[in-house]
Amino acid sequence: MRVCRTITDIRTALEPCRDITVGLVPTMGALHAGHLSLVAAARAECSVVVLSLFVNPAQFSDPGDLNGYPRDEKSDLAIAAEAGVDLVFAPSASEMYPPGFQTWVEVTEIGARLEGEHRPGHFRGVATVCLKLFTIVRPDIVFFGQKDAQQVAVLRRLIADLALDLELRALPTVRDPDGLALSSRNERLSSSERVLALALPRALATRDPERARALLESAGVGVDYIEIAPFDPPVLAAAVRVGTTRLIDNVSLEEDS
Ligand code: PAF
Repeated sequence: MRVCRTITDIRTALEPCRDITVGLVPTMGALHAGHLSLVAAARAECSVVVLSLFVNPAQFSDPGDLNGYPRDEKSDLAIAAEAGVDLVFAPSASEMYPPGFQTWVEVTEIGARLEGEHRPGHFRGVATVCLKLFTIVRPDIVFFGQKDAQQVAVLRRLIADLALDLELRALPTVRDPDGLALSSRNERLSSSERVLALALPRALATRDPERARALLESAGVGVDYIEIAPFDPPVLAAAVRVGTTRLIDNVSLEEDS
C-alpha cells in the first residue's frame, strides 16, 4: 500500500490506472468496521482502491470538535493495508487549502436543513472537499455510508448538478450488536453514556418522529432534531447529544419495521 501526501504524488501514482476502475473511499480516519464495509465494497467492484484520510477543517464549525476529533494515522494505515487498500491519500490541511483558498461549493437547499441548520457551513465544507477529492483522484465510483444520509443526498445532488462522471454507492449503516451505529465519535462516550446512547437506535426503530422524540427526551438525551427527511430513500433522521458527544443516525422508512 502506497501513502501519498501531495496532490502531485497521488496523481502520478494513479496515472497508470486510467483504463481501469478506480474506487474512492473518502474518510476522516479513525477507521472502524463501517469504513471497512466501504473498502470491501470498493475492493469487490474496483481494480484500484484509494482511501483518503483527511480531517477536513472546513466542515467543523466548532474548533473544540475539530481538535477533539480522534486521530491515529499509524493505526489507520495498518487497518487500511490489512483491508486491501492500494493507495492512501493523506494530505496536510495546507495541501488541500493552500494560502489564498477561496472557492467553495454549496448545495443550497438539501445542505441547509437538519445538519446544515445545526452546523452552519458543514455541508459547504463537505461538498468542497469531496469535489476536490473527486477532481484529484478522478474515481469511477465513490463509496459512502448511509449513516450520513444527508451527506449522501448532498453529494448525489452535487454529482448530478455538476455532471460529474462518477457513480456514488451508499452502503448500509454498520451497527454494533446492541444497535448503536458505528461512528468515530463513539470513542468519546463513557460506558454510562454508551448505554444512554442506545436510546437513539431504539427511538429511530419506532419510525415515528413524535414517539421517537418522547422516547429520547424521557431517556434524558438532548435532541437537536428528529425529523422525516425526503431523501432517496426517505429516512427518519436524528441528531442527539449524549454528554458532550453529538451522534447522528437514521433509518430508512422504506424498510419493513
Ligand atoms: O463522512 C466523512 O467522513 C466526511 O464527511 C468526508 C466525506 C470524508 C468528507 O470530509
